[in-house]
Amino acid sequence: MTKVVTLAHYYTTPEIQEMADKVGDSLELSLFARDAEADLIVFAGVRFMAETAKILNPQAKVVLPDMGSTCSLVTMTDISRLKKWREEHSDYVHVAYINSSAEHKALADWIVTSRNVDDIIAHLYEQGKKVIYSPDRNMGAFLNFQYGYDMPLWDAVCEVHDKFNKVALDEAFSLVSGDKYLIAHPESPLPVLHESDYIGSTSQMLNWVRDYNGNSSAVIFVATEDGILYNMKKARPDLDIRQAPIYTGCKCNSCPYMKLNTIEAVKAAQEGRGGTEIDYLSEELMKEAKKPIDRMLEFSE
Ligand code: 13P
Ligand code: SF4
Repeated sequence: MTKVVTLAHYYTTPEIQEMADKVGDSLELSLFARDAEADLIVFAGVRFMAETAKILNPQAKVVLPDMGSTCSLVTMTDISRLKKWREEHSDYVHVAYINSSAEHKALADWIVTSRNVDDIIAHLYEQGKKVIYSPDRNMGAFLNFQYGYDMPLWDAVCEVHDKFNKVALDEAFSLVSGDKYLIAHPESPLPVLHESDYIGSTSQMLNWVRDYNGNSSAVIFVATEDGILYNMKKARPDLDIRQAPIYTGCKCNSCPYMKLNTIEAVKAAQEGRGGTEIDYLSEELMKEAKKPIDRMLEFSE
């Protein structure tokens, strides 16, 4: 019998999360995929996540329910331009965010997730290394600001988080008379991060909410994709948790690529009658892309 393991990122809908064996952030799902004893891994997330699962667990058949599930950080990155940029900085260590294609990872020395990026880059600076960071410009700008680094940055953004907006945020804050907090994902723009009480990966934000023990009538604004609001409200139904606002009139803080994981698409993938198998990565590419991922996992475990 085929052993099927279904993984879902927090940004998928509650119904999809209910269909999964494991729900998590990028780092947790990568580790789970690597160690899964599965014939078939159905990855209800986006393509770079399914590719990472395949690279870490090449024996398993990895299926992405909808091949349209990409990520703007991937589509905004032209690999031949990246190669040139990397060559222009040949004396730098290239740190790449996990939200990148397998070809991109193969051009990196280290992969990081939003959970371990601070520690890994601090580790490299402690060793006196010079670092370039790709592809997320917002995350890189935050690290440069927060720690006084001078990393040259690649210029791509998450189209969802990049829409969080300080003007809209200040307006929302002004309507709350009592205590208010903002927790944010580091893919958000720097002016929004400046206003934040806590910055972390999706799981870290969820933990912050879970552990919150301040004033129970405070409003907690969350600057990340709307899927995780389900997990936060489930963990703390007693709290007033709200999506942080984006610019007026726009209701697009939902990742269109994550939301392609519909019940029907995930079910079809689980039953072996739908989705796309990640079988297009050459052995050589997987080998090269795996090196910086392994470096990260060894560091993080
Ligand atoms: P996490 O690593 O926090 O799960 O984030 C993944 C992602 O795609 C954020 O937009
Ligand atoms: Fe990519 Fe942004 Fe969607 Fe995350 S939320 S998968 S970074 S487009």
